[in-house]
Amino acid sequence: MNERHDDTRPEPTTETNAECTSDETTGTGASTAGVSAGGTSPSGITRREFVATSAALAAGAAIPTLGLSTSALASRAPVHAGGSDVIRVGLVGCGGRGTGAASQALHADEGARLVAVADVFEGHAKNSVDRLSKIEAIGSRVDVPEERRFIGFHGYRDLLANVDVVLLATPPAFRPAHLAAAVESGKHIFCEKPMAVDSPGVRSVMESARLAKEKGLSLVSGFCWRYSSPERATFERILEGGLGDVHSVYTNYNTGTLGQRPRQAGWSDMEWQMRNWWHFRWLSGDHIVEQACHSVDKLSWAFGNGAPERAYAVGGRQARRGEESGNVYDHFSVTFEYPNGAKGFHMCRQIAGCSNENMDYVYGTKGVCEINGWGPRHVMTGEAKWRFKGDKNDMYQQEHDELFASIRSGQPVWDGDYMATSTLMSIMGRMAAYTGRTVTWDEALNSQEDLGLGIDLALGDVPIDPIAVPGVTPFA
Ligand SMILES: NC(=O)c1ccc[n+]([C@@H]2O[C@H](COP(=O)([O-])OP(=O)(O)OC[C@H]3O[C@@H](n4cnc5c(N)ncnc54)[C@H](O)[C@@H]3O)[C@@H](O)[C@H]2O)c1
Repeated sequence: MNERHDDTRPEPTTETNAECTSDETTGTGASTAGVSAGGTSPSGITRREFVATSAALAAGAAIPTLGLSTSALASRAPVHAGGSDVIRVGLVGCGGRGTGAASQALHADEGARLVAVADVFEGHAKNSVDRLSKIEAIGSRVDVPEERRFIGFHGYRDLLANVDVVLLATPPAFRPAHLAAAVESGKHIFCEKPMAVDSPGVRSVMESARLAKEKGLSLVSGFCWRYSSPERATFERILEGGLGDVHSVYTNYNTGTLGQRPRQAGWSDMEWQMRNWWHFRWLSGDHIVEQACHSVDKLSWAFGNGAPERAYAVGGRQARRGEESGNVYDHFSVTFEYPNGAKGFHMCRQIAGCSNENMDYVYGTKGVCEINGWGPRHVMTGEAKWRFKGDKNDMYQQEHDELFASIRSGQPVWDGDYMATSTLMSIMGRMAAYTGRTVTWDEALNSQEDLGLGIDLALGDVPIDPIAVPGVTPFA
């Protein structure tokens, strides 16, 4: 049973669409079956080679682009969400979030068809397709026969040849390579957060985002609060000066702990880690990157998305024990310093039995703004007195409504800037906590630390790196 918290809600395992819960769609908790031979890497290549190969494939146009080109799609669009023109959608990563995203994509546009899926585990692909097929409003537009279920670490390449829009929803370790290939093959993209787990990954994402813009592709990020109506209204007000000059921001993301899927007989190291990916640094980037990046993103939003100058942090692993808990921390607290002297503070914890909170506090010269995403409550006090009184939308649906509307209209949405900045800030916080030293933005941006270095993308052995010790773990 996956007891993992949904990213944006206080209670465990509520997926982003009531029709698609994590438990039901991943099937990972219950099943040991479904690992196809395709899940192994035929060449036994490492992750670094995988990234390089993806880039080379992309550059060499080895991925046939059978889908509509951006310009073709835009020029033949009728153009309205209820239009009859088909937009072929592919899903890479058929877990809880990916299945939710696919549902939202099909709800967003009547012409959208799910035509292909890719996953390392065959059972996940099947569960996702089965689940989506049963949703009344969209089931008839789920058309994914066996031959378009691409299984294994490299299935996304074949998927890209069959679609116009791709939804990227694997664990974040794979995102930079998937994003690079998607952009190179000219697809419109929905890309879950975080965008990467390390600095080489962020640099790759920055380059892909740049290319996406150049090609006129839509690129929507899964930093979903950016698509939430109360947050949009509140941050717009802050950025218009409603709070005066913002001098400090404090955000937190304190939740219960992660669920575990105990190792089963016959599981390789890789299969076990992939089925428990939140616990392993190379796959998730640790929880400040994987989950709390939402709150780091809102901190950055309140400051207008600019880069902080430096960060220092504390963090550790007080309640997590044993091999099943991999090598991630269970708490972090980071201070970000901005060039104008402003400071951002972020705290996150994943420990059971403690008080939970997901709040943002923005302090300005005219007052204080309190944002409770779980509340929801969006209030400014002091001279800035204000309260959000409108309706709360479904931010996950909004992401796809805007993505598909942009494709139909030929007016691309592009989230490329903040999605990279907020991911790098989260990584910077982790680096500062792991090492115990102050990390500058330039150091974080240029770091050569590759968390997946030497890991063979096959269902074989994967050693677990030691848990970081501040003052001992070097900055790399
Ligand atoms: N925005 C949000 O509120 C929100 C909520 C939940 C999850 N997420 C994000 O969505 C992503 C997925 O999370 P999830 O909860 O769905 O996890 P999950 O484990 O339920 O699903 C991940 C799926 O990806 C598959 N997969 C792993 N590596 C793959 C690869 N290389 N190629 C193809 N498939 C691969 C897995 O087998 C699994 O089916 C993460 O980045 C997570 O942070 C975002």
